[in-house]
Amino acid sequence: MSSPADPSIENLVETYAALALALDGTEVRRWETGIAARNPADLPSTSFVVSWADSPSWYEDAVSRFERWTPKIVYRVGEIGRATDELWHAQTLSLLESRLLDPEEPFTLVPEETPQDRAEVAAFMAGIFFEGQQPERRRAIEQATARALRCRLYSVLEGGRRVAAVMLHRTPGALGLYNLCVVPWMRGRGLGASIVRQVQTDASLAGVPVVLQCRAELVPWYRRLGFRTVAELAVLVPPAA
Ligand SMILES: CC(C)(COP(=O)(O)OP(=O)(O)OC[C@H]1O[C@@H](n2cnc3c(N)ncnc32)[C@H](O)[C@@H]1OP(=O)(O)O)[C@@H](O)C(=O)NCCC(=O)NCCS
Repeated sequence: MSSPADPSIENLVETYAALALALDGTEVRRWETGIAARNPADLPSTSFVVSWADSPSWYEDAVSRFERWTPKIVYRVGEIGRATDELWHAQTLSLLESRLLDPEEPFTLVPEETPQDRAEVAAFMAGIFFEGQQPERRRAIEQATARALRCRLYSVLEGGRRVAAVMLHRTPGALGLYNLCVVPWMRGRGLGASIVRQVQTDASLAGVPVVLQCRAELVPWYRRLGFRTVAELAVLVPPAA
């Protein structure tokens, strides 16, 4: 398997691939400087490119991996370049990493093991992250999250109710933190930070950094929790998509 040298990018690529492959009919092509996924449903979560190539023709190179294909979404690490003037630059995500941290008191993150529990926590996450999105997109993300068993799902329960959740994906060089979410009425009380610190503690004990992607507005919060930016990820949308 070819994979990017940076453990944070490797974790991202492997997580996106695991989610896409959890859906029926997904094909994934990997090469030294990118990965492409395609699925008959042709949704953003299953029809994408991640490229970290240096070449100015990185986009042409990536789309040529499948015949007659336009990905729905393109994640670009590095210069976007002139060849992709047509791509709509929808957003920039920051890739963050944190290394060793003083271990904290353990905090209970309940692992979701059964298919039923995984389906419930996946629906909880989709309800927070994909509210108002097209139903088929949301269903695909939910299904992928529930089925991608390598991506471990955890909840925080209060009085038997799920109030927060997070998805963790361990790759050789990193522990990826994804889909961190707290119910709106519990926000601002330190629960999100406690979950992040627990994940940092677990990663420290395993000797790997925690890696994650987030929107610009959350970077200061993660910085306060000890993260630093290691790369920027441009989220691009091809015109035909
Ligand atoms: C981000 C999130 C997990 C934080 O959980 P939380 O329990 O409120 O976190 P804490 O109480 O430990 O810290 C709250 C801090 O988060 C930061 N924050 C949360 N959302 C923010 C936003 N949209 N913009 C800027 N800062 C934000 C603020 O600094 C806030 O501090 P303050 O309210 O005290 O000023 C929660 O807001 C959430 O579920 N958001 C929706 C899903 C999401 O965006 N997840 C992040 C994925 S990378």
